[in-house]
Amino acid sequence: MYRDILDAIKNGKLPTVDENSFAGPVAKEYFQMKGVKMSKRVSLIAGNWKMNKTVEESVELVNDLKQKLSDGSVASDREVLVCPPFTSLVVVKEIVKNSVIKLGAQNMYFEKSGAYTGEISALMLKNAGVEYVIIGHSERRQYFGETDESVNKKMKVAFENSIIPIVCVGETLQQREKNEAFSVIEKQVKVGVAGLSAEQSKKLVIAYEPVWAIGTGKTATPQQAEEVHAFIRKIYTEMYGKDAAESIRILYGGSVKPDNVSEIMRQPDIDGALVGGASLKADDFIKLVRY
Ligand code: 13P
Repeated sequence: MYRDILDAIKNGKLPTVDENSFAGPVAKEYFQMKGVKMSKRVSLIAGNWKMNKTVEESVELVNDLKQKLSDGSVASDREVLVCPPFTSLVVVKEIVKNSVIKLGAQNMYFEKSGAYTGEISALMLKNAGVEYVIIGHSERRQYFGETDESVNKKMKVAFENSIIPIVCVGETLQQREKNEAFSVIEKQVKVGVAGLSAEQSKKLVIAYEPVWAIGTGKTATPQQAEEVHAFIRKIYTEMYGKDAAESIRILYGGSVKPDNVSEIMRQPDIDGALVGGASLKADDFIKLVRY
């Protein structure tokens, strides 16, 4: 416990501190003094590769990541996830075995099996070694007709197959300019993540990705993002209670880069990042993992 805290202080990293232990209050005061947040939640740094990387390119990137992250430098308070395209899942799974890197997929269908040409089921993902699945990304909502209702069905089926869903929400620029951001997000959360069991409600991951910040180089300010994250946690508290709301990770996504990640991650309700562009280069992604 003390060792972990001292190591974290030396390395300038954020330790996970148990507030109930003797060291907790001391560490808490120290970190508050230093402006560092204390969190019981393990941060999740997730790379969404989107429609990028052939099998060969995936192998190259993930080998590079694995090798550079194999020096024990990933702090115990964070998880690293890559979400390659479907075609690369199996080969990437082989490489990340016995490493700190976890495997996720970018989408799935809610039916079990059958005549759904072009779709992938939760069972297929599980069988390929997937632990997480991104659901309802804004690009899927925008180009492929994903709705809060389909998001909700997919989320439940992912859980039934022991895959943790990362449900994406976020407003467009037009909605933000019309002051509709909060009402849009409220509906996306209330409909999209409804109907979970008590156990599932503690494991869900939500990603807030303002559409206007995706791939544009425009990031929400840490304060803008924190405001929405706190709002999502408040709605989630109303839906599932305080315990569940304090357990879930809420990730921020939208032009997260090595030079803005620390400030984003310092916000109390931001528990990780869902990263597009900067997850495609090993060196950039590693900087994010070591924020
Ligand atoms: P960028 O990091 O490229 O803005 O993409 C964010 C995103 O959509 C992650 O899911």
